[in-house]
Amino acid sequence: VYHALVDRLSIPSARGDYAVVVGRGLLSALDETIDREVGRRAHSVATDRTVGALYGRRAAAGLGCGLIELPGGEPDKAWPAVERLCQRWLADGLDRRAAVLALGGGIVTDTVGFAAAVYLRGIDWVAAPTTLLAMVDASVGGKTGVNLPEGKNLVGAFWPPCLVLVDVETLQTLPDRELRAGLAEAVKTAWIGDNELLGLLPPAGDVTFPSMPADAWCELVVRCIRVKADIVADDEREAGARAALNLGHTLGHALEAATGYGRFLHGEAVAWGLLAAGRLARERQLLSAGRHADLVEAVARLGPVPGIADMDPDLIIRHMVHDKKKGAAGIGWVLPTDRGVVLDQHVDITDVVAVIQHYQEAGFSPSHP
Ligand SMILES: NC(=O)c1ccc[n+]([C@@H]2O[C@H](COP(=O)([O-])OP(=O)(O)OC[C@H]3O[C@@H](n4cnc5c(N)ncnc54)[C@H](O)[C@@H]3O)[C@@H](O)[C@H]2O)c1
Ligand SMILES: [Zn+2]
Repeated sequence: VYHALVDRLSIPSARGDYAVVVGRGLLSALDETIDREVGRRAHSVATDRTVGALYGRRAAAGLGCGLIELPGGEPDKAWPAVERLCQRWLADGLDRRAAVLALGGGIVTDTVGFAAAVYLRGIDWVAAPTTLLAMVDASVGGKTGVNLPEGKNLVGAFWPPCLVLVDVETLQTLPDRELRAGLAEAVKTAWIGDNELLGLLPPAGDVTFPSMPADAWCELVVRCIRVKADIVADDEREAGARAALNLGHTLGHALEAATGYGRFLHGEAVAWGLLAAGRLARERQLLSAGRHADLVEAVARLGPVPGIADMDPDLIIRHMVHDKKKGAAGIGWVLPTDRGVVLDQHVDITDVVAVIQHYQEAGFSPSHP
């Protein structure tokens, strides 16, 4: 089996720097890769059922350690999963020097990372993200946590992994819809810090894993991670600059919440959020017509997403105002500009309603920016 390390980044954090390695086939050499990068072994693998069947069982066999398969899904990202992980680690005799491997999407990395943060007051963990979203976003930056019945991500810790290990070949089995949703975060990232990313997206009309060579996926992932890493290096605890990462998320989070997290994948809601932020920025002359068209084209090329036509704008607004990330002075938006983003732009509720209504009529279409 071949495996190739394509790139390696180092991310500073309050707990010490950690490496992100991105390559092809890395999962087939887990033991070796973890040993080479951090000089240690993983003592337990935690994953969800889907990823367990695809990669987890093989990974645990290769490492010669136990495997925990969580059910997966947003409702499972909760206390009981954390307790189950800790109890299993205890039963398996993991002590404070142990390290665990979180293999899966953002639900797995958030939950397992949080369990690692609290088990015996904190053990090391390796993040091995297997969704594009987790590769470019969830596994980098050190945020871990679970949901409460009252809302998402309300319990958590800053507990960065000791290593992030990205095998882009796992994207081969990721459903196209998940892949396309993850790319919405890449479009966001392009705007925040690396415009060339727009040229690295898969071709319009064929947004699938096989449409690009694995090395092109590696480059896309590495460049997204680099932007996020630069931002969190300056602002690990989200005092200021890290807010740029919320571009597209003011409306995105509200759409997800208003539909009970059942209609949109996170990235799909962010795609709507990017369109809305783009239009608001254009109205305020923050974005030129040409750059606005670039943004709309990039989002639209990811393909259709579930619609918003039947949604009540007032309900969306209510969820937006309740979002924990709102600024003190009403709804603070991150808006795109020709050369990046501006933070905390006050947008009147009536303008937000107008933009929602515009897209309720226009739909998700590049011809109606
Ligand atoms: N910590 C952070 O900074 C951060 C950032 C962004 C998102 N998140 C969190 O991430 C979560 C969403 O993560 P997600 O989108 O990765 O969802 P997910 O973990 O639910 O994965 C999506 C689906 O894909 C399946 N899957 C995963 N990898 C696969 C593969 N290689 N092949 C086939 N199927 C595969 C999973 O089983 C799941 O059904 C949310 O809970 C969100 O809050 C956290
Ligand atoms: Zn996001």
